[in-house]
Parts: sequence; C-alpha cells; structure tokens
Amino acid sequence: MTHPNTALWLPKPGAPFEVGPAPYTPPAAGEVVVRVRAVAVNPIDGLPGFLYRLALPWLAFPAVVGSDVAGEVVETGPGVTRLRPGDRVLGHAFGVDASRNRPAESAFQHYAVLLEHMTSPVPGSLPLPQAAVLPLALSTAATGLFQPDHLGLALPGAGPAERGETVLVWGASTSVGTNAVQLARNAGYRVLATSSPHNFDLVRSLGAAHAVDRNSPTAVAELLDLIGDGPLAGTLAIGAGSLRRTVPVAARATGSGRIASARPAVLTRVPGWLARWRGVRVSSIWGGTLKDNEVGPAVYTGFLPAALASGAYRAAPDALVVGHGLAAVPDALRELRKGVSARKLVVTL
Ligand SMILES: NC(=O)c1ccc[n+]([C@@H]2O[C@H](COP(=O)([O-])OP(=O)(O)OC[C@H]3O[C@@H](n4cnc5c(N)ncnc54)[C@H](OP(=O)(O)O)[C@@H]3O)[C@@H](O)[C@H]2O)c1
Repeated sequence: MTHPNTALWLPKPGAPFEVGPAPYTPPAAGEVVVRVRAVAVNPIDGLPGFLYRLALPWLAFPAVVGSDVAGEVVETGPGVTRLRPGDRVLGHAFGVDASRNRPAESAFQHYAVLLEHMTSPVPGSLPLPQAAVLPLALSTAATGLFQPDHLGLALPGAGPAERGETVLVWGASTSVGTNAVQLARNAGYRVLATSSPHNFDLVRSLGAAHAVDRNSPTAVAELLDLIGDGPLAGTLAIGAGSLRRTVPVAARATGSGRIASARPAVLTRVPGWLARWRGVRVSSIWGGTLKDNEVGPAVYTGFLPAALASGAYRAAPDALVVGHGLAAVPDALRELRKGVSARKLVVTL
C-alpha cells in the first residue's frame, strides 16, 4: 500500500520550513501509519537554529518535526492487532527522538509512522483536533510522575482508591500540568496545583483539591499548610522559576523529597545539585523516555482509551485551531511564541 505524502520540511536549523513531497513509509513490526488530520504545536518544534542544535543535537537534516498527532490508521505493521485501518487515534510521534531520528515518524506530514504502543483510540465523542492536544504533554507528565527514575508513583487506573498522599503540580495550567493533575488524580493521589488565579477553576475541574497562585509570595507557605503532616509523594515542577519555589516545599514537607522537572536538563543541573543539600532529589524529564519502558504502554494502551471514553480523562487544555494545511504550521509556531494560556494551538490537515 502506498499514498502520496507531503511533509513540512526543515532543511536545516533556523531555516524557513518548506512544504514538499515526502516518501510514504510503510509500517514495520509494532508500528502503524496514520493519515494525520490534526497536529498541535510545541515550543520545541519552532526553536531558533542554535537552540535546535542544543536541544536536539542528533537531529538529521532535512528534518520533519512535530510530536502531536491525531488522525486515522491507514495501515498496520506485523504483529499489530489492537488497531485497524479506519480507527481514529491519537499518538506521540517520535521522529525527533534520538533513538528514532527519522522524518517518517514526525507529526508535520500527511502520513506519519507511529509506535503502536504509544497510540490510543479516540472515542467518537472527541474531535480529532481536540485529541491532538494530548500526546507530548501527556507523555511528559506521565514520564515525570510514573517512571521510577523520576517520582515513581503508582500508575493510573479506573476508580483508583484514595492513597492519602499528596502530589504537587507546579504550573498546573500548562499543557503538561493539565495532564499531570489528571494522571495523578486517576492514580488516587490528592493533587495540589499552582497556576494563575484565572486558571484556578480549570485546574480544580481537572481534579486538583486546591489551587494556589503561583505568583503569590506566600505560595510556598500556603502549600506547606495544605500538605500538613500528610506525606508529599512527589512534585512535578513545570515552568521557569518552578524549582526555586518547589525545592523549599519538598525540603520541608514529609515524604519522598523528589521533584521531577520539565525544564531542560541544562537548566536543572545547578538548582538540582543545590537542592541535594536540602535533602531534595531533582530529576529532569525527557518526555520521550516512557516509550522504552512500562509507563508508555501502561498509559497509552492500558489507561487512556477507557479513561477518555468514560470521561474520567479530558483532552486538556482546549484546542485553538489556528489554521488548516501544513503551510499554516509555521504561523502557528509564531503564534505560540507570543504565549498561550490554557490553550493548545492546533492545525488541521
Ligand atoms: N521535558 C520535556 O520533555 C518537555 C516536554 C514538553 C514541555 N516541556 C516544558 O514544559 C513547560 C510547559 O510546556 P507546555 O507546552 O505544557 O506549556 P503551555 O501549555 O504553553 O503553558 C501555558 C501556560 O503556562 C503557564 N505559565 C507561564 N509561565 C509559567 C511559569 N513560569 N511557571 C509556571 N507556569 C507558567 C501559564 O499559566 P497561567 O496563565 O495559569 O499562569 C500558561 O497558561 C515548558 O517549559 C516546556 O518547555 C518539557
């Protein structure tokens, strides 16, 4: 089977994107090919050239980038029995990941190869542009919360028992944060969230027990008060300045003393080293590592399909469709650089 494919090519770091023909790559064992109908954009997709080299030094050029895919399965590789052609799915595209590093597996094209175990069916009630908001943010949150080298929390499931332990999500109104709140809640943890006050209702509606203003000078004291004597099972630190505020909380609360940071590793090293003196262990998340361990399949195949279908999990934040066609993706990236609040920018294809 073959289909004429078109991709948004990045000829070299910092160069303008170009729409052009791309090969159709059939799926290997454990892979599916998806006709991409919607993609979301993330900061890493539109980095200036020198930052591309820093963040993704292995990336081969010309490259195709993009991580967030929603669409329909057109072909399945050997051994794939869970998904069939015609299924509506969302999936994390790994083309820019060091271990994959090939254009065929990135989001910004009409036909993308996805790993079957990082792909979830989308219920009929969920429009594909809204489903596209999930993958990278979901993967990043799940990696931080559940991988043993980060917080190592219990995995999410249907109707979880209350664990009597608290998880702090600093930056809960980000795309990563809205997923972290829901994942931790669906794993039975009490969730404390920080955001700006205009997003308090959002983070509480996703399952946070309390929301605290991340810009308030009293945020640390308020959080410690809310944690009380109960154990703090772990903290997910999202956003600039999040480690400066969360280390004092993790140092003073009883519990694991662990923080998983969504900040780039290069920015986490020094604050992480300093935090050790306060008995706090900081680790830096790379949102793709879960594909290589039990966390990826547990979330994408074990938990998410039923949770989306039952409404126990929401595709958050709200999608804002900003254009149609691959040529609209660079505009979406420019828009993203201006900043968004509790929205994910999406382009339909
Ligand atoms: N390590 C990885 O693999 C990985 C993967 C994906 C993303 N990330 C990182 O995770 C972070 C969030 O990315 P995203 O795409 O989820 O964000 P996003 O959806 O673009 O987040 C937008 C929200 O960020 C909040 N915000 C702005 N500045 C903040 C700060 N200094 N601290 C906390 N919240 C802040 C704002 O919320 P309020 O209006 O409520 O203030 C705004 O609603 C970024 O730093 C990104 O680089 C890391």
